[in-house]
Amino acid sequence: MTSEAAEIVYDRVTKVYPGAAGPAVEELSMTVPAGEICVLLGPSGSGKTTALTMVNRLVQLTSGDIRIDGTGVGEHDVIELRRRIGYVIQQVGLFPHMTIEENVGTVPRVLGWKPGRIRDRANELLELVGLPPGEFGRRYPAQLSGGQRQRVGIARALAADPPVMLMDEPFGALDPLTREHIQDEFLRLHAQVRKTTLFVSHDIDEAVRMADRIGILREGGRLAQYDTPERILTAPADDFVARFVGADRGLRALTLRRLSDLPLEPADGIAGEPLGSSETLRTALAAFMASGADRLPVADGDGRVIGAVTLDMLRTQTSERAR
Ligand SMILES: Nc1ncnc2c1ncn2[C@@H]1O[C@H](COP(=O)(O)OP(=O)(O)OP(=O)(O)O)[C@@H](O)[C@H]1O
Ligand SMILES: [Mg+2]
Repeated sequence: MTSEAAEIVYDRVTKVYPGAAGPAVEELSMTVPAGEICVLLGPSGSGKTTALTMVNRLVQLTSGDIRIDGTGVGEHDVIELRRRIGYVIQQVGLFPHMTIEENVGTVPRVLGWKPGRIRDRANELLELVGLPPGEFGRRYPAQLSGGQRQRVGIARALAADPPVMLMDEPFGALDPLTREHIQDEFLRLHAQVRKTTLFVSHDIDEAVRMADRIGILREGGRLAQYDTPERILTAPADDFVARFVGADRGLRALTLRRLSDLPLEPADGIAGEPLGSSETLRTALAAFMASGADRLPVADGDGRVIGAVTLDMLRTQTSERAR
């Protein structure tokens, strides 16, 4: 396992906790391609945390195998394995008596890096997660907001450049606005460092926003569907998935498409404030409702009008997609 992103394969993975009536995870098979973000979604107790923590062996497999770039997790030295996997949990778990910089340097220190290299790495990562080290490096966790602590948790998990990131409801405790902001920040970061990421969430909107693929687990840790966000929303495998993603999945699906994806009509003579072509169809729908118009101009990044979108176009999109 190098520091390049790694493929993760679950191969008929089952976990039965001692004394439990049934499995917490049953015959789970899925492949997460190198560099992608896979969100595990499902109701409480459906085995998400169990599925995640079998990767770094905090929980032992009962049967089946999890392979990282072809090597079973059981074949790795466990200490080495955990050093190579960044792990972010909901309660962050920063060391309260260490500064932010020292917290971020935890794993490099264990690995015996020289102090100068640890400091450089910590500073680089704090910069990357939007916490200027000059301002935040010497503070203690209690002197940060919840969202800032989450970002330190992410920086710490990235410190030794692990090929794999496990994130268990890392943004669960944040208010919706902070949460959206930090989701965007993580996506921006991910585009730069492309770690294979397994991400647990309860929240369908978070999953749709973050995921390349979504795995939906049901009670008993059985995989109900493993698919792209688009397929989960437009072609749920069964009633359980359809109920889980919600009756408003048609509206959610609109957030996946941008105006630039549509064949626009000529914009001759229509007035009004143009919509940016990078806006989602859901934003366009809101603009139609706010303006009362059924046709609106669309502009490119330079503000040049490139065409028009109609309310009918959105209707076609949802009906095609909800079929
Ligand atoms: N250490 C343990 N010993 C015994 N049973 C456990 C243990 N950890 C979890 N379980 C059980 O395994 C099942 C799956 O738990 P898990 O924590 O994986 O669910 P989850 O999907 O992460 O739930 P949540 O959304 O509430 O965090 C539950 O029934 C839980 O009670
Ligand atoms: Mg959990």
